Amino acid sequence: MSPRIEPSSGEPNKLKVVIIHQSRTGNTRRAAELIGGAAKATGATVAVRPVTNIDMSELAEADLVFVGTWVDGLILFGQKPGDATKVRGIPKLWNKRVAAFMTHAVNPGNAAARFAGLLEAQGADVVAARSLNRRRLDTEAAEFAAEVLFST
Ligand SMILES: Cc1cc2nc3c(=O)[nH]c(=O)nc-3n(C[C@H](O)[C@H](O)[C@H](O)COP(=O)(O)O)c2cc1C
Repeated sequence: MSPRIEPSSGEPNKLKVVIIHQSRTGNTRRAAELIGGAAKATGATVAVRPVTNIDMSELAEADLVFVGTWVDGLILFGQKPGDATKVRGIPKLWNKRVAAFMTHAVNPGNAAARFAGLLEAQGADVVAARSLNRRRLDTEAAEFAAEVLFST
């Protein structure tokens, strides 16, 4: 299989992937690192950054950006992107293909759809959005990364 999203520049098949995360207790950071590992295994150039430490030129050159945060809600309802203000602080993602990921404990509700909407309001072209169960990050993060990178 070959990456669905072709690199815009650089070596052939060297997709440039930037993974930005907002994490309070480490789950979303871990998901970001797992997604990064999966992307690197495909031969992509990968950078994993917290929202507070974004490299502007790296972001500008990215072919694909993953953005992650945690699910904030009342478990049964009201789920939304955690720390949305910080996520909105990410430089505008105009013309960027973006995959939105989140981590949750038991019930993400429709937080992933809301997160996709938030990122689209930032100008992102959201190609996928999913919340990952914090107890199954190893499998779910790898699956999500593979789907985004290899879907036909
Ligand atoms: C204030 C607060 C609200 C939360 N609401 C939900 C929720 O509605 N549904 C859920 O499944 N998890 C909920 N969680 C759990 C977090 O989404 C989960 O632990 C997540 O993995 C934390 O990510 P982090 O470690 O990157 O900060 C909540 C956590 C906090 C602190």
